[in-house]
Amino acid sequence: MATNQESNLSQQMFGSQAAEYAASSVHVSDDRLDGIARLASTGPYGWTVDIGTGAGFTAFTVADRSDRVVASDVTGPMLEQVRRLSGERGLDNVLLSQNAAEHLPFANDSLDLITCRAAGHHFNDLRSAFAEIYRALRSGGALVMVDTAAPEDDAMQEWLNDVELRRDFSHVNDWKASEMLAMLAELGFEIAVQEDARVNLQFNDWVKRTATPGDEVVALRRDFLAAPSGIRTAFNIRETDDEDIHFSFPSLIFRAVKP
Ligand SMILES: C[S@@+](CC[C@H](N)C(=O)[O-])C[C@H]1O[C@@H](n2cnc3c(N)ncnc32)[C@H](O)[C@@H]1O
Repeated sequence: MATNQESNLSQQMFGSQAAEYAASSVHVSDDRLDGIARLASTGPYGWTVDIGTGAGFTAFTVADRSDRVVASDVTGPMLEQVRRLSGERGLDNVLLSQNAAEHLPFANDSLDLITCRAAGHHFNDLRSAFAEIYRALRSGGALVMVDTAAPEDDAMQEWLNDVELRRDFSHVNDWKASEMLAMLAELGFEIAVQEDARVNLQFNDWVKRTATPGDEVVALRRDFLAAPSGIRTAFNIRETDDEDIHFSFPSLIFRAVKP
């Protein structure tokens, strides 16, 4: 069970916003989910665990190729959404586990596949989570993960993390792709597949999902629209006729194998 400050913040944020995430079109289906399905297509798998599962959409995606999928998350109300949605979908092989990614309740060398979508940047200690994943995977087992990847430019990474944290008080860090890949390599993972991806977002929906306070929404909107051209290009920021702002964040999707 997580006790650290950031996991408590995540439990506060995602506990109150669980229903928003369960209904979020960005989370119900998107290119990142298709990417996870593609990179995890080499099953069937025995035991799969989806970490930071949220409302469970990634767990549901790999349920058809796994004997059992454990949907795991630090936030109890998120797991209640998983229970509801897996019932509605008639899935009978989805199990629930409330735990932090940094402390996985699974035996050494026991898991065939671990998935993780759009959650690593919320983890207090991504390096420890990767170490736990490595410990729990069997030899030949794989981590299939997609997450926001900050640009390699330090100033752009700083801009991204600043707007993310002001929008969501539980945000921890958008790592650069090079930083994530270095952590995995240090642990001994072999990167079998590595691709760039984008997550397309709409400002009004993005701040609604996290119930960002009104004064911060105003300030964030101003900062998006006043961003220097390099930032506007990097995040594909454009104002739309319906008083929204469309933008996209770069992502990294990969399949990392434990030798
Ligand atoms: C954006 S949601 C994830 C969405 C989900 N993976 C999907 O594909 O739809 C992020 C999730 O990470 C969870 N989380 C945050 N910190 C965590 C931690 N340290 N360990 C496990 N889960 C965590 C939150 O409770 C939240 O449900």
